[in-house]
Amino acid sequence: MAVRYELLTTDKHTGARRGRLHTPHGTVETPVFMPVGTQATVKTMSPEELKEIGAEIILSNTYHLFLRPGHDLVQEAGGLHSFMNWDRAILTDSGGFQVFSLSDLRKITEEGVEFRSHLSGEKLFLSPEKAIEVENALGADIIMAFDECPPHPASRDYLKDSLERTTRWAKRCKKAHRRPHDQALFGIVQGGMERDLREQSAAELMELDFPGYAVGGLSVGEPKPIMYEVLEFTTPLLPKDKPRYLMGVGSPDDLFEGVIRGIDMFDCVLPTRIARNGTCMTSVGKVVIRNANYSRDWEKLDPNCDCYTCRNYSRAYIRHLIKADEIFGLRLTSYHNLYFLVDLMRKIRLAIEENRLLEFKKEFYSQYGYDS
Ligand code: GUN
Ligand code: ZN
Repeated sequence: MAVRYELLTTDKHTGARRGRLHTPHGTVETPVFMPVGTQATVKTMSPEELKEIGAEIILSNTYHLFLRPGHDLVQEAGGLHSFMNWDRAILTDSGGFQVFSLSDLRKITEEGVEFRSHLSGEKLFLSPEKAIEVENALGADIIMAFDECPPHPASRDYLKDSLERTTRWAKRCKKAHRRPHDQALFGIVQGGMERDLREQSAAELMELDFPGYAVGGLSVGEPKPIMYEVLEFTTPLLPKDKPRYLMGVGSPDDLFEGVIRGIDMFDCVLPTRIARNGTCMTSVGKVVIRNANYSRDWEKLDPNCDCYTCRNYSRAYIRHLIKADEIFGLRLTSYHNLYFLVDLMRKIRLAIEENRLLEFKKEFYSQYGYDS
């Protein structure tokens, strides 16, 4: 078995789980936030810095690496771990989402998806078999099945056809998978916001007995309370002894709400993306460091943070770098935002162990400025 999930404790008052993922590239404490390294790099961060931040697993993208530099080249380098010099765990998404969000002129058939590369414009094709071939060549510890993430809103008829095709594709992914001994293939539950369709999708995928399950098709423009409601009825359908991954979600409130509903893994471009336009997540709420009121602010970015950025630089200096489009500014804000979320998950794990997750949430929300 490529990945073994160990459930350590369950919170007495919520569905939150404290666990561990044992992978060929080390142990991952869960619940976990996975930084996103789309192009075989977490933008602006070195692997050494990611380790210093405390990241135990990162996510990369099949779609991007298939287009450039190509999975054969990565395989020639000895796989993604060796290509990017990251010896901890990696998860690759299948391209089933990026093909819909990034490429043009896509055509979905039973066979797969035809699309135009957003880079070269050339016509390409991804199928369950092709996506798995690419993911096998990249060699991540966890690989995702090739699915369709339907748009929101979509009709019930569309959602039902789509999830049934996603099940048939998941079956084909499993059959095409050549490295089950060292790569865990996760299934992705779809079905939009409809309870019975989520039930159908979960039941069909569980029939295939995957070593882990993701909840896909969320954070696609629906209101947050709807996403929480879908999670509320979807996670209890999934096996207790397997990890559960909520794809593409990573704002602090969504992390709390997901964990409370039994999610173990999250990923999101949010911390690194907003960092590059100068927005920082801090214990006292969002800080838009470009704002003029920080021009003579000699305090640290986050008064309660001990990260490299906060130990060494003032808000005024970081603001200057960001305003001057200096690369070092992007590095400092990216470092802090990743540290903030990785550290938040550390605190969440501790709170679960001590059965005080709801108290911790209340305290965090009031400091961050969320209403609870
Ligand atoms: N990332 C965010 N949502 C999804 C999803 O539904 N499917 C896949 N493959 N990736 C995602
Ligand atoms: Zn910091």
